[in-house]
Amino acid sequence: MSKNNPFPESIEKDYLRRFHLLHSLADYQELVGRPLAYFGLPSAEMRDVAMWHSLLGHVTAIERDPTLALQMYRAAQKLGIREKTIVIEMQLAEIAKLLAMEDKEAKLSLALQWPSVQNKINLVRNIRHDVINLDLCGGFLYQDRRGESENAKVLRHLIEFQAKLKTTFIMIITFALRDTGKDDYDDFIIETLEQLGKVKIDTSDLRKYYLADDIEGQPPNLRRLRFCLPAYLHKVAFEYFHVRNLGAWYYKTFYHTALFFEPHHSRNALGKTWPPVEEFKELLRTPMLRLEPDNQGQILKKSLPAPTLL
Ligand SMILES: C[S@@+](CC[C@H](N)C(=O)[O-])C[C@H]1O[C@@H](n2cnc3c(N)ncnc32)[C@H](O)[C@@H]1O
Repeated sequence: MSKNNPFPESIEKDYLRRFHLLHSLADYQELVGRPLAYFGLPSAEMRDVAMWHSLLGHVTAIERDPTLALQMYRAAQKLGIREKTIVIEMQLAEIAKLLAMEDKEAKLSLALQWPSVQNKINLVRNIRHDVINLDLCGGFLYQDRRGESENAKVLRHLIEFQAKLKTTFIMIITFALRDTGKDDYDDFIIETLEQLGKVKIDTSDLRKYYLADDIEGQPPNLRRLRFCLPAYLHKVAFEYFHVRNLGAWYYKTFYHTALFFEPHHSRNALGKTWPPVEEFKELLRTPMLRLEPDNQGQILKKSLPAPTLL
């Protein structure tokens, strides 16, 4: 860990940025044929932005800590991307909500902000972000809460924002396995599987695997996230986007995944057909890899199998 960055860096995290994510972003950039717009929490050293900056034409960087926000300006300067970087010093939940709002409501809410902040947010509200990297260094359902969890709301608001602008994008998410909400996860798994049971899909193997107390090398919270995060994203996005999982990884005590969201082009007057079972089955087929460095610092990969739906 460097003295400027209080968040843990690791060989595994670097490996993911350098190989899987860089390749996914480069493929996507080639497909769209223009530099990509990034939205995320790059922190003081902007290591993710630094790794991908040749592919990026714009950076929206969110940070709640004023000292780190200042360091991010310096990092952007050093990288030569100061002109294409907007740093917004704010809680992610707050900015996500402001981005999801319709224009009238946003205008009223933004009136409470300083003019310089209003200008930045108005600008960002019109940017089609191609990559959203959410690495919050905490759990998905981590905070004490009433009703919907704060992180779940953040994800829903960002998807609503992207849906308003009809943007195709890659969402990269890292969550710590240390988390509260065991019962919420398990209830969500049980209820989702019950719904699938109603359309005559045999979910018995999935139920055993996702709700088991003990599966060697696969802690319960990893299995809970592996099911609940893509399922939740699919649930909130399916009306607007086709959702595909680009991969899932487990390293140290973190779950990490990248998903591709593509707006539906041929929606009929009643919207997308429901239930979106085939898409959901596809999401559950995503392989998960455990990453661990060997003595030489080379990353070893191990597949962590899970049952799928036929
Ligand atoms: C783990 S670091 C990001 C590391 C970066 N993605 C990289 O690849 O090096 C997370 C950053 O997000 C900030 N952060 C965490 N939760 C936040 C929140 N809810 N709102 C705003 N900033 C947050 C932290 O202060 C920290 O600087």
